[in-house]
Amino acid sequence: MLVINLSVGTEKRGHLSVDEPTINLGLEGIYFTKSEVCKLDGINGRLYYRGYPIETLSKNSNFEEVCYLLLYGKLPNEEEFNIFASALKSESELPEQVISIIKDMSNKAHPMDTLRTAVSALSAYDNDVPDSSIDANMRKSVRLIAKTCSIVATIGRFRNGESYIRSKPNLSFAGNFLYMLNGSRQSQQNEKILDIMLMLHAEHSSNASTFSTLVAGATLSDIHAAVTSGIATLKGPLHGGADEAALAMMRAIGRPDNTEEYIESALEGKKRIMGFGHRVYKTYDPRARIIKVYLESMQDSSSEEVRNLTSIALRAEKLMVDKLGKTKGIWPNVDFFSGPVYTALGIPGYLFTPLFAVSRMPGWCAHMIEYWKSNRLIRPLEYYSGPIDLEYIPMENRS
Ligand SMILES: CC(C)(COP(=O)(O)OP(=O)(O)OC[C@H]1O[C@@H](n2cnc3c(N)ncnc32)[C@H](O)[C@@H]1OP(=O)(O)O)[C@@H](O)C(=O)NCCC(=O)NCCS
Repeated sequence: MLVINLSVGTEKRGHLSVDEPTINLGLEGIYFTKSEVCKLDGINGRLYYRGYPIETLSKNSNFEEVCYLLLYGKLPNEEEFNIFASALKSESELPEQVISIIKDMSNKAHPMDTLRTAVSALSAYDNDVPDSSIDANMRKSVRLIAKTCSIVATIGRFRNGESYIRSKPNLSFAGNFLYMLNGSRQSQQNEKILDIMLMLHAEHSSNASTFSTLVAGATLSDIHAAVTSGIATLKGPLHGGADEAALAMMRAIGRPDNTEEYIESALEGKKRIMGFGHRVYKTYDPRARIIKVYLESMQDSSSEEVRNLTSIALRAEKLMVDKLGKTKGIWPNVDFFSGPVYTALGIPGYLFTPLFAVSRMPGWCAHMIEYWKSNRLIRPLEYYSGPIDLEYIPMENRS
């Protein structure tokens, strides 16, 4: 951890002349803790959950198993898996009062604001809230994962003027999300693709929302408070909001032939192209590679709209990689191809970021439980660069 020594230099009345320490804006490049949850290799474009490469997990596993892996640090045997998966199903029910909150906020607030409020409200209906043991935090994590999924599907239903429906015990986690959103079972292919998207978004080391989860939890608040902070942080377009923004750009481009001109002119105007660039990856995001393959494989069964969006996305990707990839290290990230995939699954743009929160919930909880094992309040320093020892002038004498 970087230590900034503020005792060097001298301070004079009205003027600060302390030697300025090295400041890492945005805490860039700072290690603040050790973790065994996730390894992110930004140079080689590799991502591991608990030591397993993301490529292996997305090919062989499922979201329920990945949740178990992240929380417990190992793959479950069959019995452990069955108990865990059925707990996720049985905890998916929402308290009536939380359904009312969602209903009331649905047409007034941003879906991320509704989600943040509803998840925070869950604490009022969870008897384990005052219990900070690991067992209780595991139980609360399972409830948070299950109920966040139901909350997001219900936000979608209320925004469509439809009513809350309960999950079905015979469906997978991904299958239930689609069922609760649409009111009918979706194709197995769609359930599988959503399952893969959930796995790919489940965890990503000390990203902004996970860090913010830890900052809140490290005060020894509780897991509901901590993940509520994570949801608040995920909302912004520099983080979880990028997939919706990237899709909006593809829609604004309109036709594939407009792509190059649109991107060139945005770059000339110093605009950021959403879904590109990353604080840690200076190469192709491995999750984007996987999503791109699935997006391409869906083309034959996709609507004209999705084929059009895909064609725009592929042309934009080529141009950006040629222009900024090798020269500036700006490559597609997980958010770039997600929009067309979610569109193909019938998920509306306003639910992209809330759905990201559904998938990231196990990552937030796993990190929080791990951090609490050797908790230390997170409290970095800021270097004060304003004047000091100013004279207090009474209000009547101020100009
Ligand atoms: C994710 C992100 C915030 C990381 O940014 P960062 O590490 O702080 O990088 P910086 O903001 O310092 O950018 C470095 C340079 O790359 C450029 N750049 C970064 N992302 C860019 C993008 N998406 N499009 C165009 N230029 C970009 C910056 O303008 C800057 O250029 P300069 O050196 O000429 O000023 C940034 O890449 C971004 O805004 N991406 C778009 C949002 C997004 O997709 N977020 C999801 C991340 S998973």
